Amino acid sequence: MVSTISSKPLTRSIDPKREAFCADLLAKMTLEEKVGQMVQADLSWHEDVRQLTREGRISSLFTIRDPKVINLYQHIAVDESRLGIPLIIGNDIIHGFRSIFPIPLALACTWDPELVEQVARASITEAMACGTTWNFAPMVDISRDPRWGRVAEGSGEDAYLSSTLGAAWIRGYQEARDADGRSAAACVKHYAAYGASESGKDYNSVDMSERRLREEYLPPYRAAVEAGVQTLMTSFNDLNGVPASANSFLIKRILREEWGFEGVVVSDYDAIGELVMHGFARDHKEATLRSVLAGVDMDMMGNAYHFHLAALVREGKVAETVLDEAVLRILGLKYDLGLFEHPFVDEADAHSALSLPESLDLAAKAAAQSIVLLKNEGGILPLNASAKTVALIGPLAKERQSLLGCWCFDGRVEDVETLAEVLERDLPADTNLIVEQGCAIDGGDLDLAGALKAAALADVVLLALGESDTMSGEAHSRAHLCLPGRQQELADALAKCGKPVVALVFAGRPLVMTKLVEETPSVVMAWHGGTRAARGVADVLTGKVNPSGKLSISFPRSEGQIPVYYAHKNTGRPVETSGTVQFNQAHKSSYLDEENAPLFPFGFGLSYAQFDYSGLKVLTPQVRKNETLRISARVTNSGKWHGSEIVQLYVRDLVGVVTRPVKELVDFRKIALAPGDSQTVEFELPAGCLSFLDENHHPVLEEGDYKVWIGPNSAEGLEGRFELID
Ligand code: NOJ
Repeated sequence: MVSTISSKPLTRSIDPKREAFCADLLAKMTLEEKVGQMVQADLSWHEDVRQLTREGRISSLFTIRDPKVINLYQHIAVDESRLGIPLIIGNDIIHGFRSIFPIPLALACTWDPELVEQVARASITEAMACGTTWNFAPMVDISRDPRWGRVAEGSGEDAYLSSTLGAAWIRGYQEARDADGRSAAACVKHYAAYGASESGKDYNSVDMSERRLREEYLPPYRAAVEAGVQTLMTSFNDLNGVPASANSFLIKRILREEWGFEGVVVSDYDAIGELVMHGFARDHKEATLRSVLAGVDMDMMGNAYHFHLAALVREGKVAETVLDEAVLRILGLKYDLGLFEHPFVDEADAHSALSLPESLDLAAKAAAQSIVLLKNEGGILPLNASAKTVALIGPLAKERQSLLGCWCFDGRVEDVETLAEVLERDLPADTNLIVEQGCAIDGGDLDLAGALKAAALADVVLLALGESDTMSGEAHSRAHLCLPGRQQELADALAKCGKPVVALVFAGRPLVMTKLVEETPSVVMAWHGGTRAARGVADVLTGKVNPSGKLSISFPRSEGQIPVYYAHKNTGRPVETSGTVQFNQAHKSSYLDEENAPLFPFGFGLSYAQFDYSGLKVLTPQVRKNETLRISARVTNSGKWHGSEIVQLYVRDLVGVVTRPVKELVDFRKIALAPGDSQTVEFELPAGCLSFLDENHHPVLEEGDYKVWIGPNSAEGLEGRFELID
């Protein structure tokens, strides 16, 4: 439903002062200086970065976070280079700078754009104080493959949720201002379809239909452009035979012409140089030619443009106007960020902006809100006051580093509270906490005797399991998604100890935890929650926070199901029941040895409250194409706890000129209800949102019958129907 084709591209207002300033500067530049504005490097570059900065042959430095070093290079650029053009300083602030927040996949489980925006603002405020003016985030790559380590960095499997949250990240990053009025640019990445890397291996190729690309993978990038993102990063992957970093269909046709993007396009790290390894260019010179003509403005790491771009212009293979357009965009960006007026960072003040109590409180709030309660049989949680002895067992019990998550260059391990420390502090004074490691996160010995002894003394067992921070993120894919090392053995033994067991799973991706979920009465998905991850978990365990997170990605039962996602097609032979008995149905689209349904579907998450859905009303059983669908349902909190519920709206177009997914998320709303209270939730969906791409990839809004659901997740809900008429 989230189409990427718009009838007209975005138009921006023109600031004549800005245009004149940049044009003036451009007119003074030599060819080498123009190329220089298209080069980004880090300090590990094999070239002499100081000298090149002095010569105006570097535009941007990245991965420097020390304000002193940033100012040192900025002084060279501003005071010693001929034209004094400031550098723009890029960094990956993916889920926090010094105060580390939950990984984006976890934050997406809040379904809360406002909270995401606050996290983005807090992160960039710290980063700007230390000199960052360009943030390589958000990543909005849709991914349905939890083997891919970078699934941690995005908002999960769904185009609508990812688009909504991507726009929130961008608002938060770009609207912040420092004391000098400077701002930082966001950089939406990795364009495009990087999250569909074959077999979940990083940097791998992607081959997909244009329909799937436009309908399912491109919408979040498009939403980022609509939200005003100032820059975009091309991806490493080959897309349908053309690497994304030299793909003019993606950059020129879709991004520039269809969407009207006027910002800067930067390659990923040496992705232009890598065109040679792709077999798309004979050498770095040809790689330069193909990328610059495809529309990449800046070469991250400069290995291609720095060495070959000027020669290509001199040889007449690249028109200088191509460079002029790119350079104007880059100068315009620096102008917009206020860098010409305020190039330097205030070194003295930098550190006073870091890890402020309000940022750490926000980190704790975000960690708690990201948590998804997956199972709570017998209402073990929240912990009962009668639990006088609590055994905290498992390799994550005293972990700090692993709680931080995969991208936290500047996060400090010593700032992280362990779960053991927080529980010791937050459990009632008369509670006795016993802590045992049981086993390592990966490999090593299993101390079953110690674990069982602790469990025997306890009223309740908290089992802290999961992945380390280095098991997800860039170039950290896994083929086996079970609990690493000997953790499953530990869980198996404790499942039989006769005590109520709560599994707390810390991970950078959905794990395959079918056995753990079967044998453990209560399971909490805590993800990698950042500096205050443990406080978030403790708040949920003690009931200070009632969990409200809903999964942003489906959890597979086994690796063989991947990709498993809710918005799949029906096929001509669907199984007859969805989610239950599916084995061996003769000649149906199913497995002999596994169910079709995931272990937990997209949108799933429990609460200590009990939410009941009733009274679905399709208020507009017939909707004209220029009208709005109105539909409502009543949600009642029939439990004993005050809680929040994320109410989800899904639709299905039953018959189309092309086949449509069995369900698509089109809206959601978070409501808070006291015990016994009810609320009627009404959604209004303009019929235009139901358009999709026909066989020629033109947007079409079709008359006909639709199903619609209001429910608590993608697999359950009250079902209604409506008809779209002319
Ligand atoms: C490579 C990663 O793919 C990208 O996400 C990141 O922004 C750059 N390196 C810069 O660190």
